[in-house]
Amino acid sequence: MSDGRLPIGERTRVLVLTGAGISAESGLATFRGAGGLWDGHPVEQVASPVGFAEDPELVWSFYSARRRDAAAAEPNAAHRALAALEERLGDRFLLATQNVDGLHARAGSRRLVEVHGSLWRTRCSGCMRPAFADATYPVGPPLPRCACGALLRPDIVWFGELLDPATTRSIDRFMRDAGGSGDPFVFLAVGTSGNVYPAAGYVTAARFFGADTWLLNLDPAENAGAFDHTVEGSAVQSLPRLLGIDG
Ligand code: OAD
Repeated sequence: MSDGRLPIGERTRVLVLTGAGISAESGLATFRGAGGLWDGHPVEQVASPVGFAEDPELVWSFYSARRRDAAAAEPNAAHRALAALEERLGDRFLLATQNVDGLHARAGSRRLVEVHGSLWRTRCSGCMRPAFADATYPVGPPLPRCACGALLRPDIVWFGELLDPATTRSIDRFMRDAGGSGDPFVFLAVGTSGNVYPAAGYVTAARFFGADTWLLNLDPAENAGAFDHTVEGSAVQSLPRLLGIDG
């Protein structure tokens, strides 16, 4: 990184993984640490199928508050820098985000995989009706129900649940294609503590497929040792510079 930028040339393929830290400077709380979203909320109470079965009103209140926070937030220069990089690289770029806030899409990202679901979709807790766009703020009672009678729930991947196989496949395919192409391959993680799998393991898979791996995070991440390069800093201040894109 002699000029302070990632090595992204004409043929480079780039896979980016983002976490809550990229939205922190848009005013959205991260999950871990003092004042974080899980601070004061046992995770299993608000982010697990068991928690939803026990107290669906508490869970909907939590996610409705998060919908309100996300609706009031604006994408920041780091979200915009990734959208600009996508514009430059086209199908040599993929953004996998653990965030459910919708800010990447609002910044213009389209080659985007939301691995933990979206705050802006709702699905049935009982039947296979497909998830649908929803910008309401349920708190109950009564809570919204599906035509099948079961309660509706946020389309978020909770603890103890599997990721949507389609999202996993598109990330796997991108890595395999990059590895088989002979082109340079860069993996970059931004604003994620490296605590939650499988996302925290993408760095290891990317290395297997020959990627040069980079981490930009405010604090040392749990899985920092798995990266070739680590940059400590704020996403808004450091990402546009690392990507060579004006904020
Ligand atoms: P965390 O809250 O675990 O970690 C956020 C990371 O962002 C921390 O390591 C901070 O140091 C870093 N950070 C904070 N502000 C930053 C900034 N301005 N610039 C750069 N980095 C900054 O969030 P995630 O790693 O995203 O899952 O958490 C992963 C998953 O855990 C979430 O998707 C969520 C949660 O359980 C579900 O809800 C399913």
